[in-house]
Amino acid sequence: ANMPIRNICCIGAGYVGGPTAAVIALHNPHVRVTVVDRDQNRIDAWKGRHLPIHEPGLVDVVRLARDGSSERRASGDQGQAASMDGASAALVGIVQPARTPNLFFSTACVETIAQADICLISVNTPTKVRGVGKGRATDMAAFEGACRDVATYAKAGTILVEKSTVPCKTGQLIKDIMEAHRPGVVFPVLSNPEFLSEGTAVRDLMQPDRVVIGCESTISGHRAAAALVNLYAAWVPRSRIAPINIWSSELSKLAANAMLAQRISSINSISAICERTGADVSEIARSLGMDPRIGPQFLKAGLGFGGSCFRKDIASLTYLSESLGLPEVAAYWQQVLEMNNFQRDRFARHVIATLNNSLRGKKITILGYAFKKNTGDARESPALDVIRLLLEEGPRSISIYDPLCSEADIKRELAVLEADYSVCKPDGPVEVVSDPYLACADSNAVLVLTDWDMFKNTKPAAAPSKPIATLESYDGTTPNDILHITSLMEQLPPNQPPTPP
Ligand code: NAD
Ligand code: UGA
Repeated sequence: ANMPIRNICCIGAGYVGGPTAAVIALHNPHVRVTVVDRDQNRIDAWKGRHLPIHEPGLVDVVRLARDGSSERRASGDQGQAASMDGASAALVGIVQPARTPNLFFSTACVETIAQADICLISVNTPTKVRGVGKGRATDMAAFEGACRDVATYAKAGTILVEKSTVPCKTGQLIKDIMEAHRPGVVFPVLSNPEFLSEGTAVRDLMQPDRVVIGCESTISGHRAAAALVNLYAAWVPRSRIAPINIWSSELSKLAANAMLAQRISSINSISAICERTGADVSEIARSLGMDPRIGPQFLKAGLGFGGSCFRKDIASLTYLSESLGLPEVAAYWQQVLEMNNFQRDRFARHVIATLNNSLRGKKITILGYAFKKNTGDARESPALDVIRLLLEEGPRSISIYDPLCSEADIKRELAVLEADYSVCKPDGPVEVVSDPYLACADSNAVLVLTDWDMFKNTKPAAAPSKPIATLESYDGTTPNDILHITSLMEQLPPNQPPTPP
């Protein structure tokens, strides 16, 4: 018999939990989806007009599911009732008629868990910073905490879904926690890793390449998997939904991120050879990509991968390999991380060398802090490593402009440099500026560190002052180039700062 699903609880209102819950709710109007988080500010933001994360199309999906309509609520918008734009309407499928709200955000974890038929756990699983395995092993504290809450408060038979990225065999850990708290009660455990990318989260959720659902091969495991398959089948073709063994499912997520990151390190290693030989890495990438066995994606050389997941997931994979007695496998993946660090060192050294091996008294401008375009996520940006290396040379100042990252978020990331460089003090060497012109004024070098479209045409057609240094870069155009200040100013007409997206 089918398990009827009426209430979903999603634990963790972050980059994964919020958008995933919103899209599930949008397509399952008869299911009540509640996202819970311990962080009151985050929950307040999800309930309000300014969502805590920026993703194209997300506002419209949330409005439909949360408010019952894509119309902006008149009160907050000075009476302007604007409906979703064309791009969002295309993402959402059709402009939907008014509906009954079925998406809720709350800090009432206990009550929500107690009512749930399914709990999706999408809390953060960062790298451990101290203790056994520090720097590599996954810190499971938040994940375990969420499991304990479910073990304590859920009704018997509630399905637990691992949505967070976790080490292989975590399903067993969950079973042990459940058994310790509620001996003899069956709580089916599923693994349903998330493959969305930031900046395209809504599109990735609306049209996923695949939905992987891992279950135990027991009757209750298969029934639980069927219930989750049904939720996805509301909008994903069944041929794209792959029910598999739970350990395969857990490992397929780490493997996917490792393989993607490995391609970036591979092309970056080639870019280093290009710079010594006059070969052009973007031409090589184009040629490689035309081989259907290789394919064109993820072959952009640059500063190396950033973001909250690639580094931590590969670190987790190396730790897992070592724990399983496979040091050769660990060393193989470790090399992907080493190449990534090498690329940043190389870039920073190149900048310093171009500025006559001294940054004393000089001002450096950084355009773009986010780890990639179309996101305001400031975590694990390659820019942080570059800034650290530049600060060692004692520049007069480093001025940062990013169209989406908030000053508070950037400063929070820079706090790791505080002890050595007092970066966050008002008279410290680093400033975050909200105007790109101000950021560039009086600067000795401008570094474009994020592939934001607004920075794409900063190279002057007639090249009045040639770029003073370049690293082999995205599309062979601008990101990661160092541009002489005047070349940038010629492209951006004065008093018309580019509009942030
Ligand atoms: P995040 O830090 O943005 O969000 C996690 C949220 O969980 C936080 O708001 C935190 O307050 C909350 N939380 C932690 N413990 C809790 C508890 N016990 N009860 C209630 N709330 C709790 O993290 P994220 O970027 O959404 O990532 C979540 C997971 O998804 C990670 O495992 C990550 O590896 C994985 N993932 C992330 C992405 C991505 O693009 N960010 C993509 C795929 C997978
Ligand atoms: C990545 C994966 O693409 C998602 O499938 C996965 O779900 C997610 O990690 C996760 O587990 O968190 P994300 O980190 O959001 O998504 O962004 P990507 O588009 O993968 O970019 C990651 C980094 O690689 C960025 O810094 C980007 O600039 C860099 N990159 C990407 C390159 O240097 N070259 C490329 O060709 C592509």
